[in-house]
Amino acid sequence: MRHTDAGSGGMEGGEEIPGSDVRKVIVDLGASSYPVLVGKGVRSQVSTLLSESVKRVAVITQAGIPWGVETMREELRIELPPGESAKRLAVVERACSEMAKAGLTRADAVVAVGGGVVTDLAGFVAAVYHRGIEVLHVPTTLLAQVDAAIGGKCGVNLDEGKNLVGAFWQPKAVLCDTETLSSLPECEQLNGRGEMAKYAFLGVPNLAGVPLDQQVAQCVGHKAAVVSEDEREGGRRALLNYGHTLAHAIEAQALHHGNTIGHGEAVAVGLHFAALLATRMGRVGPEEVEKHLAVLDRLGLPTALPGYVEVGETLEYMARDKKAVDGLTFVLMGDSGCEVVSGVSPDLVAEVLQSMPTAL
Ligand code: GLY
Repeated sequence: MRHTDAGSGGMEGGEEIPGSDVRKVIVDLGASSYPVLVGKGVRSQVSTLLSESVKRVAVITQAGIPWGVETMREELRIELPPGESAKRLAVVERACSEMAKAGLTRADAVVAVGGGVVTDLAGFVAAVYHRGIEVLHVPTTLLAQVDAAIGGKCGVNLDEGKNLVGAFWQPKAVLCDTETLSSLPECEQLNGRGEMAKYAFLGVPNLAGVPLDQQVAQCVGHKAAVVSEDEREGGRRALLNYGHTLAHAIEAQALHHGNTIGHGEAVAVGLHFAALLATRMGRVGPEEVEKHLAVLDRLGLPTALPGYVEVGETLEYMARDKKAVDGLTFVLMGDSGCEVVSGVSPDLVAEVLQSMPTAL
């Protein structure tokens, strides 16, 4: 498969709303188009961006999220259990039951307030409740603002792998309130930086020294442009999975073995691995590995495999990855940027994994 992205660069950071520091990016999907607002305080726009016909709102959030929203509607608050373990079908069922008991109808809405776990799960709840109701995302972590809340993919995990059950369900709007980033713990900053590192290899210009609001807007703008071109991941959008085949496998192993790893940290390790694999396959020279390590190092991201990772198990999870329709499949760099490469030899993948340093 060949959908290359040699680096579109350009001004993808949206336009500034006059008289404010807020930037507006449009995800352009015809009748399903929606705005993403990026800036301090934009969560105050929730009540005006919900459709006027919405009378009741399920605000789905998670234990420990210190941010709230004013919906100016009758409200049901649903608090998810902490961590990635909330992304389960049993939690979807519980949320839908609570919404049904509270009398939410097809004309009502979900507002997701939290990180990627919340926006993924709440988006899926909105996609399936009464066969689909309005959803508005208020991502409160860097990772959710630059990635998880944008694009409409939502879903939950199975024991067999990450995000194996899900839907495409576009939100009514996304409000990336950068004020919420001020309270993020270091591990969450790292998580977001893992996804930002990915964008660096997909053509987003160097963001070092750029104010955080603009960094977020630039990443959102790149993702919006890709999703606008390819909503259902039939082509260019698959490149946004750069670093993710290994990342999902090591995250699934973490869940399975009772360990924890942030998604962005797993993506960082996955980016290092992808550069090593591409070099080993003769697609790029060894200087590309150095470039990857330099970006990851500048962002303070890990590059070594977590100690709990077992090579054989990693290959099993990779084979179950949604991208793996034709053997092991990775997004890899080549002469003309990144592309999707299928049918990679498991022996070669194992060899590259074994060559990587392991974190203590
Ligand atoms: N919600 C994440 C995506 O659509 O990529």
